[in-house]
Amino acid sequence: MCGIVAALAARNVQGILLEGLKRLEYRGYDSAGMAVLDAGGHLHRQRALGKVAALEEKLERAPLNGRIGIAHTRWATHGKPSEANAHPHLAAGRLAIVHNGIIENFEPLKRELEVEGVMFESETDTEVVAHLVARAFERRHDLLAAVQQTLARIDGAYALAVMHADAPREIVGARKGSPLVVGVGIDEHFLASDPLALLQVTDRFVYLREGDVVRLSDGGGIEVFDAEQRPVTRPLQVFEHGDGAASRGDYRHFMLKEIHEQPAVIAATLEGRLSGSHVLESSFGVDAGALFADVRQIHIVACGTSYHAGMVARYWLEKLAGIPTQVEVASEYRYRDVVVPQDTLFVTLSQSGETADTLAALRYAATLGYLGSLAICNVPGSSLTRESDLSLMTQAGPEIGVASTKAFTTQLVSLLLLTLALRRERGDAREAALVQALRGLPAVLERALEMDSPIAELSEAFAEKHHALFLGRGTQFPIALEGALKLKEISYIHAEAYPAGELKHGPLALVDADMPVVAVAPNDELLEKLKSNLQEVRARGGELFVFADEGVALAATDNLRVLHVPRVDECLAPIVYTVPLQLLSYHVAVLKGTDVDQPRNLAKSVTVE
Ligand code: G6P
Repeated sequence: MCGIVAALAARNVQGILLEGLKRLEYRGYDSAGMAVLDAGGHLHRQRALGKVAALEEKLERAPLNGRIGIAHTRWATHGKPSEANAHPHLAAGRLAIVHNGIIENFEPLKRELEVEGVMFESETDTEVVAHLVARAFERRHDLLAAVQQTLARIDGAYALAVMHADAPREIVGARKGSPLVVGVGIDEHFLASDPLALLQVTDRFVYLREGDVVRLSDGGGIEVFDAEQRPVTRPLQVFEHGDGAASRGDYRHFMLKEIHEQPAVIAATLEGRLSGSHVLESSFGVDAGALFADVRQIHIVACGTSYHAGMVARYWLEKLAGIPTQVEVASEYRYRDVVVPQDTLFVTLSQSGETADTLAALRYAATLGYLGSLAICNVPGSSLTRESDLSLMTQAGPEIGVASTKAFTTQLVSLLLLTLALRRERGDAREAALVQALRGLPAVLERALEMDSPIAELSEAFAEKHHALFLGRGTQFPIALEGALKLKEISYIHAEAYPAGELKHGPLALVDADMPVVAVAPNDELLEKLKSNLQEVRARGGELFVFADEGVALAATDNLRVLHVPRVDECLAPIVYTVPLQLLSYHVAVLKGTDVDQPRNLAKSVTVE
């Protein structure tokens, strides 16, 4: 979704803003722009439809020069992707604003401004905010007060940054529903949607909270005000992942780098959370032990890939911990009348911790009488973690590829830790065996990554196809769903996943030589049943690609290819089987020449509904 960068420095900010925009490209966008206030007090703006590179070309021809500026990548919501709709938006040529989010009441506000004679240059909701702030500023010549007054009139979600030619050493930022961080430099300060955008200039950040407004000013530094306009102090945090997190290193794409990081980030996710042969429930927070003892049911809510992690966890929680579990996508959950049985724990899963539907679901759940809420999340300080009773951070580090990979597998590991922490039979042989298997998981994943070459070869069978079917049973059904999601996200091949037992209730009608069928078939208790399903596909001339445990006796034939996956405890198999499916979609996308890290129309962090 939209990305914001702003800088108030003692040097020309064009390069800082441009680098920031490049680092935000992963969030997904369709146009980009920048406005800078020059030494003579004049605002200059450049905007371009398409990639940041197109903006960069324009800036090479006509550079902007000034020590204060704001910049933006736009993901269209109100109004088509176009240069006219790209941010920054101006009011009276003196004020510039960039905005992420949606202003829900923009139509009545726009009509009111039009009646007063304001001419609009774009179709965006943002331009309304620009004019409202400019008008409030005319009255008092106080940019902070003008923004605060305007925010009181708008409904919706936003992160924004505003500057005014008549307040030449100030930038005002605000957040409600969309993320915004302050980058703290030496005598220079910044704003951005994500710390990654600013790692080239600082590693120290202040994470703004819901309703906060911030004024960056020369000399005055950083002043934060809460939703009630009271001055507040927010903690300074050091970004610990290093700037390497924002670069591809030797990898051709971030996605490939992130797939290969999985052994290391899973080891990091386990670190400090296992003791001897058991899981430390205190990893979930100091109060977790008391709360977990009362849990009788679980509701898990998430979106996209995170939802698939929740689906796997349901099998684990019911099988290993005997706790009835429901899993639901957040956009459905938040709009229905949910019945909450007594002593139910509400669990959200999210890489970003800022997904609008998941956050709204958490806020709705807070009104429903749950025992408590737990967020499993990858971004420290995110809204989801702040608003939940308990949180467990996955240690995936920044994930840049839009298609989620390492965030998913670290969520799975975290969910298995949760399952073990919730079991009544704590400290038994099963827990010890699983803890041991978890410790060995990074090494098993290293071996799974060695499948890269055979999978690259296999991907040629998919590159010319228009459809693909993924089959799995039990915990591998959500992995089949995730495999199909990865393939459609980055290669644009229509892919569907079915529980293998449902094959003959519909999808079998689609199977022919043009429909590759991928089956995930570890050597678990459902293998024999899955084998019969595979026969059904073969009998219809379908081309089968089976991912199976090293020991599984499945002979390859003309239309059946078998790829062996390293063997692990059956509970951990969904984590290991995810890796070859990630590699498959990656290689198919590379063959097709799609934009692997930034697939069309998709955003990394979906901060609007
Ligand atoms: C977007 C991303 C997906 C992600 C989903 C949920 O659709 O492209 O990769 O799974 O949002 O995001 P979250 O940050 O809540 O896990």
